[in-house]
Amino acid sequence: MKQTDVAADFTEITDDDVEGVVELWHSCGLTRPWNDPHVDITDARGGPTSTVLVFREHGVPGHERVVASVMAGLDGHRGWLYYVAVAPDRQGTGLGRAAVRAGEDWLRAVGARKVQLMVRSTNSAVVDFYEKLGYGDQETVVLGRWF
Ligand SMILES: CC(C)(COP(=O)(O)OP(=O)(O)OC[C@H]1O[C@@H](n2cnc3c(N)ncnc32)[C@H](O)[C@@H]1OP(=O)(O)O)[C@@H](O)C(=O)NCCC(=O)NCCS
Repeated sequence: MKQTDVAADFTEITDDDVEGVVELWHSCGLTRPWNDPHVDITDARGGPTSTVLVFREHGVPGHERVVASVMAGLDGHRGWLYYVAVAPDRQGTGLGRAAVRAGEDWLRAVGARKVQLMVRSTNSAVVDFYEKLGYGDQETVVLGRWF
């Protein structure tokens, strides 16, 4: 299957996908105590310029498993990707690239001109993955503060 075809197979998360997505994020080590994944999913689904896209693996009829995800959001200036995740047993099969491309396609469709993402300093090994997809260091330090 062509890469573009796989990206096209990422579709908007449904209610039935939510627990599978949370499990996927846990299995990929992407969850943190201060980010409730259920709240993050609800927030992303609630707005017109954000979403969670998923790729489902079809096994036994009626039993689908979410094996890849990407959260995308346009903040009015830039497009952002979050929660790029591929199930550990499906990594290395092109799904990560397809997830990023699917998120980019979605952001382009809602008017984004640029896409960015943040990589935790404890996950710097994944920078090589993004560089292969054309991403580069923006020479920017991200600062934050909780409300
Ligand atoms: C990072 C992740 C999404 C990559 O998904 P994947 O399905 O394994 O990646 P792909 O198979 O699409 O790989 C695309 C390319 O990147 C390369 N690549 C994948 N992971 C890599 C890594 N950790 N380091 C360097 N290169 C990597 C692949 O070799 C492939 O290169 P090629 O096109 O030359 O063959 C996946 O490993 C994952 O879910 N990791 C845990 C969650 C995570 O850290 N997400 C990122 C949060 S910022």
